[in-house]
Amino acid sequence: MNNLTKSEIINILKDNTQDEQLFKTADEIRKKNVGNKVHLRGLIEFSNICKRTCKYCGLRAENKTLERYRISEEDIIFYAKQASEMGYKTIVLQSGEDEYFSQETICKIINEIKKLDVALTLSIGEKSYDEYKAYKDAGADRYLIRIETTDKELYKQMHPHMNYENRIKCLNYIKELGYEVGTGCLVGLPGQTIDSLADDILFFKSINADMVGIGPFIAHPETPLKDASNGSFNLALKVMALTRIILPDINIPATTAMETLNPNGRIIALQSGANVVMPNVTSKEYRAKYEIYPNKICINENPTQCRGCIEGKIKAIGRTIAEDFGFHKKVIS
Ligand code: 5AD
Ligand code: FES
Repeated sequence: MNNLTKSEIINILKDNTQDEQLFKTADEIRKKNVGNKVHLRGLIEFSNICKRTCKYCGLRAENKTLERYRISEEDIIFYAKQASEMGYKTIVLQSGEDEYFSQETICKIINEIKKLDVALTLSIGEKSYDEYKAYKDAGADRYLIRIETTDKELYKQMHPHMNYENRIKCLNYIKELGYEVGTGCLVGLPGQTIDSLADDILFFKSINADMVGIGPFIAHPETPLKDASNGSFNLALKVMALTRIILPDINIPATTAMETLNPNGRIIALQSGANVVMPNVTSKEYRAKYEIYPNKICINENPTQCRGCIEGKIKAIGRTIAEDFGFHKKVIS
């Protein structure tokens, strides 16, 4: 099963008559390889300031309507502490590509958070080898940087002034430095083909990803893609299920974007191959402003409410919350 060819993947993506079977198979493979425990990662979206202009993203520098914020060093550490006290075993630091945070500041934050007995994930974009190295040396364990799409032409269209080769270089640096590598893609970008989605899935395998996050594209009204159609929830779920089948033992989050398109999206994802959820652990004041796409969930909740909510939903489907750090455990088959 994990040796599906590109044409087999394409056929599965195109044929909608066997979807329930696909989701069931992915769920079984998930259970067999990573078990019934769900890993919760506490997400701190610490700055929505971004120098990039990705066409799909609401945080793009050219969106002048968004009220921008930065969370102070002290408050980032406060939210991390609070999350660790609530039982989170991983803290994820995510932001736009905000140059205000120097290497030194990020290293200081990493040092402080690593005193909490948690794993630490960074999701702060494209950096130099030396910066990635400094963060690894400071104690960061994982790095998330989605490839977004492996269709080079589409990549170019979606990411003005950016470069596909550099993205790959970043992924290689991260791997080389010994981080756990998280990547992923958007599903339903305008002009994206089924063929290229199959390439995306095979790409995750070719780089030996430890974690893959997949979510539907959601059109943001303050971006150049405001008139485009949203991606399909079902197709995103299929790409995710196939990723589980092809990479049986990796970590796969039930992404927040899934739940924006379907009120039960994260639970459906957890029953179709996913084994991770990343609840927000910051205060209400920031949540709506980290508006990558519209109609984000949990913008009126606080960290305690999200923790309770997601725990309840996970237990209601007969799964439990993991208590370990949730590193990728390679299963030899
Ligand atoms: N719809 C869905 N996902 C988006 N992202 C950015 N903009 C959008 C959008 N409009 C995703 C990207 C990025 C992640 C943090 O959010 O894939 O890597
Ligand atoms: Fe935030 Fe349910 S996870 S309200």
